[in-house]
Amino acid sequence: MKITFASTTIPRTGVVVAGVLADRKLTPSAAEIDKRTRGQLKKAIAASQFKGNKNQTLTLLTPAGTKFDRVVLVGLGKAKEIDDLQLQNTGGQIYAAVEKIGAPSVVVSVDDIDGLKMNAAEQAAEIAFGLRLRSYRFDKYRTKEKKSDKPTLKSIKVLCDGPTKARQLFGKKNKIADGVFFTRDLVSEPANILYPETFAEHAKSLTKLGVKVEVLGEAQMKKLGMGALLGVAQGSVREPKLVIMQWNGVPSKKGQKKSAAAKPLAFIGKGVCFDTGGISIKPSNGMEDMKWDMGGAGVVAGLMMALAGRKAKVNVVGVAGLVENMPDGNAQRPGDIVTSMSGQTVEVLNTDAEGRLVLADAIHYTIDRFKPKFVVDLATLTGAIIVALGHEYAGLFANDDKLASLILDSGRKVHERCWRFPLGDEYDKLINSDAADMKNIGSRGGGSITAAQFIQRFVGNTPWVHLDIAGVTWSSKGAPTVPKGGTGFGVRLLDRLIADHYEQKT
Ligand code: BES
Ligand code: MN
Ligand code: ZN
Repeated sequence: MKITFASTTIPRTGVVVAGVLADRKLTPSAAEIDKRTRGQLKKAIAASQFKGNKNQTLTLLTPAGTKFDRVVLVGLGKAKEIDDLQLQNTGGQIYAAVEKIGAPSVVVSVDDIDGLKMNAAEQAAEIAFGLRLRSYRFDKYRTKEKKSDKPTLKSIKVLCDGPTKARQLFGKKNKIADGVFFTRDLVSEPANILYPETFAEHAKSLTKLGVKVEVLGEAQMKKLGMGALLGVAQGSVREPKLVIMQWNGVPSKKGQKKSAAAKPLAFIGKGVCFDTGGISIKPSNGMEDMKWDMGGAGVVAGLMMALAGRKAKVNVVGVAGLVENMPDGNAQRPGDIVTSMSGQTVEVLNTDAEGRLVLADAIHYTIDRFKPKFVVDLATLTGAIIVALGHEYAGLFANDDKLASLILDSGRKVHERCWRFPLGDEYDKLINSDAADMKNIGSRGGGSITAAQFIQRFVGNTPWVHLDIAGVTWSSKGAPTVPKGGTGFGVRLLDRLIADHYEQKT
C-alpha cells in the first residue's frame, strides 16, 4: 500500500476521512466538510451513537449536494489524552473502516489540534504508521477468495501542514513496519514451506540491505560441538541451520582497527520451524500452532531488517537457531544425555522442552564469538507463560536490572508490554539432574521460570534478558494495529530500545 503526504485542501470527490474530538467536537477538516454538506455531517452525528470517542468511526454515504463517495469520521477522544500510540490505533481503525469500501484510494485529513503537543505533521506520521501496520495480510495461498473480500485500497494520501516533515518522520517508521511485516510473513508461513534451509534463504535476502549473513549447517555445528541443538534436530529430514546476521551501523573511524569497533548488541531467537514435541509427542489438537514456534527467530530477522532499513547507527548481531522437532527412528529419546557447546551436559527428560536446548548452543556460540554488550533472547518457550499472562504481556526474565527496566519501558512505549518474573537459586536447583549437569525440565510448578533458569546456565556474566513470547506471537483476536495472525511482537520493542538507548547520536 502506498502512503503519501500533501498539504493540499480537502478534495471534492472520492473517500475522505476526518477527525472528530470527544463530545462531537469537529476538527477544522470535519467542520469544512460539514460546511460543504450544508450541515449534514452534524445532523448525521447527532442522529447516531458517534460521539467522537477514540474507538468510534462513522461512515456517511455520498452526502447530498456533494460528489464524495464516502465521508468517514473517526473519533479522536479528548485532545489532552491523544498520544502517539492512540494515533497509531486511529490509523489502524481508519484502515479497517476503509479497506473494503471498494475505493482504490482514500484521503485522510489531519489537523493541528488545540491542547495537543504534537503538530499535524507528527500526528500524520503516527496515523500513517498505524495504517500501514493494520494493512498487513497473509493471503498468498488464497487463490479463490472473492474479489469483494479482498481489500481494494491501493493508496492513502494524508493531508497535513508540513508534509515534508511528516514524510521524513514516517520514513523511519515505515522501515520498522517493513521489519514487522517480515516477521509476520515468516511466522505465517506453514512448516512445509518454511523450514531451516528456507528460513535461512529469507534471512540471506537481508544482504541487499547491507546485513552480513552467514549460515552454518549440520557439519559445522557438529564441529563446534553443538550437541544440544543437534539432538533436537536429529529426528528431522530437514537439516538444522544457525543463521548469523550482522548489522554494523556504527561508522568506523579512519585508521581504527576492526577490533576497536563498538561491541555489538546480540539478539538470539528460537527457530523451531515445527514442534511436534518429538518422541514426547504433543496432542494433535492445536498442533498446527507449532508452525510459529520459530517466532523468536522471526523477530530477530525482522529486527535486523528494521535496523538495516533505517540505517541505525548501532552494531547488532542477530542469531537464529533453526531446527525442526520431529519423532522418527533417529529422533532423540527421553533420557538421552547430550553435550552442549559450552561443555555442560543435559539429560533430555522431555523432548518437547526443545527450545531451551536450541537456545543453549545458540547463546553460548554468540557470547563466545562476539562478546556482546548484552544478550536478549526471544522464544515461544513455554505454554506456562500463557497460563500466567494470557496473550497481553510477554514474560521477561533477567540477570540485569538495568537492562530489564529499559526493556520493560520500551515495551510500554510501543504497547508491546512485558512482565518480569523472578529467577533464583531455589528455582535453579529444580533442574539439577542425577545423571548429568542438568535436566531439561523442572518439576510441577513454575515451568516458565525453570525454562529461564536453564537458559541462564548458558549466559554466564553477560547482561541478559529472556523474553518468553509464546502468548504474544500469534493473535487470534487482532488489535487496531495488529491484524489476526502473526503479530511481529518484539520488533518494535527492540527497535525502540536501540533507538532510545544504544544508537550513536549524530
Ligand atoms: N513450543 C512450546 C511452547 C509453546 C506452547 C509455544 C504453546 C506456543 C504455544 C515448547 O517447546 C514446549 O513444548 N514447551 C513445553 C515444555 C514442557 C515439556 C516442560 C510446554 O510448555 O508444555
Ligand atoms: Mn516443545
Ligand atoms: Zn517449542
